[in-house]
Amino acid sequence: MSAYRPASPESVFTYGAPQLKFGAGAADEIGYDLSRTGATRALVVTDPGIAATGTPQRVADQMSRFGIEAVVFDGVHVEPTDESLRHAVEWARANGPWDAIVAVGGGSSIDTAKAVDLLITNPGDLMEYVNKPVGGGRAPEHPLHPLVAVPTTTGTGSESTTICVMDVLSLKVKTGISHVRLRPTLAVIDPALTLSQPPGVTAASGMDILCHALESYTARPYTTFERKRPEERVPYCGANPIADMWSEKALTLLAESFRRAVRDGSDEDAREKMAMAATFAGMGFGNAGVHIPHANAYPIAGRVKDFHPKDYPADEPMVPHGMSVALTAPEAFRFTFDASPERHRRAARLLDPGADEPGDPAEFLPGVLTALMRDIGIPGGIGAVGYDEGDIPDLVDGTMKQQRLLATAPKDVTEDDVAGIFRRSLSLW
Ligand SMILES: NC(=O)c1ccc[n+]([C@@H]2O[C@H](COP(=O)([O-])OP(=O)(O)OC[C@H]3O[C@@H](n4cnc5c(N)ncnc54)[C@H](O)[C@@H]3O)[C@@H](O)[C@H]2O)c1
Ligand SMILES: [Zn+2]
Repeated sequence: MSAYRPASPESVFTYGAPQLKFGAGAADEIGYDLSRTGATRALVVTDPGIAATGTPQRVADQMSRFGIEAVVFDGVHVEPTDESLRHAVEWARANGPWDAIVAVGGGSSIDTAKAVDLLITNPGDLMEYVNKPVGGGRAPEHPLHPLVAVPTTTGTGSESTTICVMDVLSLKVKTGISHVRLRPTLAVIDPALTLSQPPGVTAASGMDILCHALESYTARPYTTFERKRPEERVPYCGANPIADMWSEKALTLLAESFRRAVRDGSDEDAREKMAMAATFAGMGFGNAGVHIPHANAYPIAGRVKDFHPKDYPADEPMVPHGMSVALTAPEAFRFTFDASPERHRRAARLLDPGADEPGDPAEFLPGVLTALMRDIGIPGGIGAVGYDEGDIPDLVDGTMKQQRLLATAPKDVTEDDVAGIFRRSLSLW
């Protein structure tokens, strides 16, 4: 169990989730759903790649039958930056007023829609709301407009979380805004929209699902924190029985569908299970939190040199979020094993029910993870996306800035620990 011994242990955990509609055809009902809120002018937020599939325009057209004028903005940057978010906000402020926002896309589109919604309903600049110490940590005073989130990837779970992630270009750091008011009003998960995801996106975003489930399941238990006062409560409370349930189920769904969805994108059953896994993992980590692999992912993505992943826009180098999270996950879980051996073993068993448990139980989860990563075409370590030994101090520095995430790790994490995880992740196989 955890090494933490609080003087006055926490006895309360919380659970939050948006309203949710799930299933093939669910996206055809958004006009009706929004009309119930009294909306008359909706902004549909998406990126150019998803716009090219025709889905965002279809969603917009269907709203007009309910007296809602819908306008598509397709200027989302894949993996948003502070600059791209500001651009979207300026566009929305100049072309408003709006009384509803509909995000159609992956985490990039949904997070951009959250920032737009925040800043057309509340005054000030983006950085005032960004988490401290990078930003001002300001809380929105006014309620946001209804936000309907329609994921087209199977990954982030952003449709159920309170977070907006961005790359702050001048600081080469990924951070975010986190507040309950950012949680979408309604999540519409329609697996039919995910069929066009290319295999590279399915693999990377699927690793994001998997790490959300694994990290929240192995997170520091909520009872090991010091007791909070009501006004101090945050959406992330550490591993807890409700989040555990979602994470376990997400792992089982991934076991049944992940390899299949990457191999054959038209496999509707696999796509539906992946969509369910993404949603379930989102409900888990959105309340428990994530830890070391996500903390490491931020500098891995933020300091990218010249890596161009298959199936992503080719104009800029990038390490996609799910890939950046996956690359140090096997080593991170080798490191956290002794904080909760049973949880690590159970997670490996759920993810690969047929696997033989190795003699050293600490190797079980890393082994199952690397076998999966190899099968679905994830690069074999941070070396394969362009980093070498000499980059490790900078990467460690970036990770240590993610104290909000490291606080959820099931044991204390020192700079040396993180350096060791990065070093052993240079080449995973
Ligand atoms: N807010 C949260 O809770 C949260 C959690 C995890 C990650 N994130 C963030 O989400 C972003 C990553 O999101 P993502 O992995 O969902 O991918 P994404 O939104 O970045 O999209 C990836 C690529 O796939 C394309 N694409 C998406 N759906 C498609 C479809 N159905 N058909 C064809 N192409 C499609 C897009 O055009 C894009 O090129 C990162 O910025 C990450 O930091 C947010
Ligand atoms: Zn993630």
